[in-house]
Amino acid sequence: MSTSNSEPKITIDSAGLARRIDELALISEAPAPVVTRVLFSEADMRGREYVRRAAREAGLAVREDPVGNIFARWDGSEPGLPAVGSGSHTDAIPNAGRYDGVVGVLGAFEALAALKRAGFRPRRSLEVVMFTSEEPTRFGLGCLGSRLMAGSISVKKAAALRDREGRTLDELRAAAGYAGPLRSVRLPPGYYHAFVELHIEQGPILEKEGIPIGIVEHIAGPSSYRVTLHGEGGHAGAVLMPARHDAMLAGAEIALAVERAVLNSGSPDTVGTVGVFRIEPGAVNSVPFKAYLEIDLRDARLDTRSKALAEIRGSAVKACEGRGVSMEFEEINADPPAAGDPETVAIAEKSCAKLGLRSLRMVSRAYHDSLFMARVSPTTMIFIPCRNGWSHRPEEFSTPGHIASGVEVLAHTLGRLAA
Ligand code: GLV
Ligand code: MN
Ligand code: MN
Repeated sequence: MSTSNSEPKITIDSAGLARRIDELALISEAPAPVVTRVLFSEADMRGREYVRRAAREAGLAVREDPVGNIFARWDGSEPGLPAVGSGSHTDAIPNAGRYDGVVGVLGAFEALAALKRAGFRPRRSLEVVMFTSEEPTRFGLGCLGSRLMAGSISVKKAAALRDREGRTLDELRAAAGYAGPLRSVRLPPGYYHAFVELHIEQGPILEKEGIPIGIVEHIAGPSSYRVTLHGEGGHAGAVLMPARHDAMLAGAEIALAVERAVLNSGSPDTVGTVGVFRIEPGAVNSVPFKAYLEIDLRDARLDTRSKALAEIRGSAVKACEGRGVSMEFEEINADPPAAGDPETVAIAEKSCAKLGLRSLRMVSRAYHDSLFMARVSPTTMIFIPCRNGWSHRPEEFSTPGHIASGVEVLAHTLGRLAA
């Protein structure tokens, strides 16, 4: 262990970790290799049971908060000091792979287990968090657990969230066995001394450059919007073209406007996606009377993201006016980018150097629970390469060697922070 010359070297049980990642991947709403674990689904509940068991096997004490964030703790010799945190999520979007989030939860358990095996004695407590609903699938809003922990969403707004079937967060968490007031999810000020999340890169840079470790200096700011369009339905044969108010076509114009606006934003980091597009009644011989879109718009810079949003809104208004369609355009979230803490970044970098691993400072284009932990704690992330940069698809893959290196860097970094 690098924090003291007298301590033995830490070793990662790479095979054991790979087995646990594979076991968790089999807990899914869809057949392998697809992983789907939507918040509070039966698979998510079984996944949570797996996480609790894995935490206990790593010798950690488990507790859960009223929104289902799971905390696995190793008390330090001075438990009154702010703890050092790590962790990520195990929920998975439909048709996902097995590494997104999971590497940061099971990998952190392994990092702590390796520190224990090495005889390390932390001064600060070490705590791994499995955050509830990093993915937005159920409620349309990502990072629900970490958002509440950071106080970045009001309890009223969180409690009022509804899924597609109209069920509220309060209903669903109660059914999942999570009681207690949501307001108690918020962390007391200064709860974490530092927070470090291990994650697959979800992009192609590390693999292309042949660099095993990325250290995150910035996380791009995500935002998302809900657009509901009301047109006029009718018979696909009988309603002649000049008389139409087709909600789907207005939506199609808006989707293309998103692409145009992000391409013209002036920043290569602006990205926009229409990942949800539903129409009603959804019959081949009926003019769509309603369309529903969700727009995901992100940028490392707020000015270019705002410019793109203004353009999208303007084009949407024009498209709707031209087609006699009415529109509701609502913001779901508009989160600012986050900066990594320079000292924590430097400590992670030093751990890489000590281990003889090359590292690269990076921007995370995906969002993570660290976006919110960075608001309440010095934070950074450790990235590892993933094949072809693939993520959010079943082909997602990181080699056991890369995962072990990431866990090793995490263990050394947590050890330095907790010593
Ligand atoms: C997280 O999963 C994201 O969409 O960036
Ligand atoms: Mn994801
Ligand atoms: Mn993730």
